[in-house]
Amino acid sequence: MEKEVLFERMCRTVREAGDLIRTCTSAGACRTKEGTANFVTKYDSMVQEFLIQRLSALVPKAVFVGEEDGYSEGKIGKGDTFIIDPIDGTTNFICGFPVCGISVGLSRQGRMEIGVVYNPFREEMFAAGRGTGAFLNGRKLVLRDCALGESVLCMDTAPYTPELRDGIFEELRRLSYLCMDMRSIGSAALSICYVACGRAAAYISPKLCVWDYAAASLILTEAGGVITGKNGEELNLATRAAVLAGSPKAHAEILESGT
Ligand code: IPD
Ligand code: CA
Ligand code: CA
Repeated sequence: MEKEVLFERMCRTVREAGDLIRTCTSAGACRTKEGTANFVTKYDSMVQEFLIQRLSALVPKAVFVGEEDGYSEGKIGKGDTFIIDPIDGTTNFICGFPVCGISVGLSRQGRMEIGVVYNPFREEMFAAGRGTGAFLNGRKLVLRDCALGESVLCMDTAPYTPELRDGIFEELRRLSYLCMDMRSIGSAALSICYVACGRAAAYISPKLCVWDYAAASLILTEAGGVITGKNGEELNLATRAAVLAGSPKAHAEILESGT
């Protein structure tokens, strides 16, 4: 299948997955998984299952890496790999806070080829193809290279790993003096997309999994932004990583501020 057609079909599939949760008024019973306050609802599994079924019809040989139901053990290979977070922002979903991203990335030869992140509650679809640009609801994104002091800094605190919290709060305290203000919207994928569309200068997290950032990373770089590990190192779709994303200027400022 041609890449353009695959891109369109992936966007359509992710939008349809959004329909499964858009009108949901209660997340229902939750179970917990590894770490602290790490919840799963029946919707996380339902959306992932729907995506795997539909996407495997699009790319029959693809491998799946996903957050739920055993797919987290999957490996990103040289062939086509779909990297899925069915609901990025499950805690928001449970609390009725309408900020969640359905995140689907396609990697090929170990690098991102297509990325789609959709917030069904705002009907905002961020999508990118390698070399063909990033888009928000079809509008091309061209990142304005703003400094940290001209915008907000989005952040996450590794909610499921409380032992990292003191360190990140120390760092955030320092960075808080360099930006206009700070935001934590509860979805790493959407936070990175918010940098891509100019709503934030940068985003920082002490620990993400590959399904949290894979799709959004392509959306950001195609828009003109930068995403690396915490110290500027390449991410290479690392299974777990501290992530720093930003406009080129803000990204550099954060790296320099730590030295
Ligand atoms: C979480 C969200 C959150 C981030 C966590 C992620 P989940 O994903 O992206 O913003 O701070 O590190 O695990 O569990 O809601 O899919
Ligand atoms: Ca996630
Ligand atoms: Ca999730």
